[in-house]
Amino acid sequence: MKIISLSIIGLVLSGTLFAEDAMTLMKDNGCFSCHAIASKKAAPAFAGIGKRNKRFEGENARYVIINSIKNGSKGKYPHFSDMEMPSYTNFSQEELETIADFILAQSSKAKGHGGNCGGGKGQGRGMGMMGGMR
Ligand code: HEC
Repeated sequence: MKIISLSIIGLVLSGTLFAEDAMTLMKDNGCFSCHAIASKKAAPAFAGIGKRNKRFEGENARYVIINSIKNGSKGKYPHFSDMEMPSYTNFSQEELETIADFILAQSSKAKGHGGNCGGGKGQGRGMGMMGGMR
């Protein structure tokens, strides 16, 4: 298992090693039936989620993301108000951290417009507009 080394690598945000494990976890759990990395589907893009939480939650971003995966989430992303983030209680803390770090790392893929689209209040914006930007 690579899980142990992941929390260390996660800090580096190199984006490759832990990404593979996060991708596997998320694929195995069906996250991509609603989410995509950089474009919106039935749910906000992970790039937009990472960016939004970094901007609005700062140091708590990782915690907020972990909490939303564990407990579900509804109503945070106005564009998706008719959908709901289900709660996933099957992940270990390490797995949650791996996924959260991966999602936060995706925020760089959402930097299509100088890293700031909407200046604070427009948190619904920027999701799904970054398809293809790297
Ligand atoms: C049934 C569709 C669906 C599935 C499956 C799903 N999500 Fe979501 N997810 C959503 C929706 C809808 C939202 C937006 C919720 C909101 O507006 O508060 C969301 C939001 C999120 C957020 C943002 C929460 C926040 O606080 O900013 C994260 C992180 C997330 N999902 C991760 C995951 C992960 C990881 C998985 C797989 C384990 C997953 N989702 C599976 C629909 C889904």
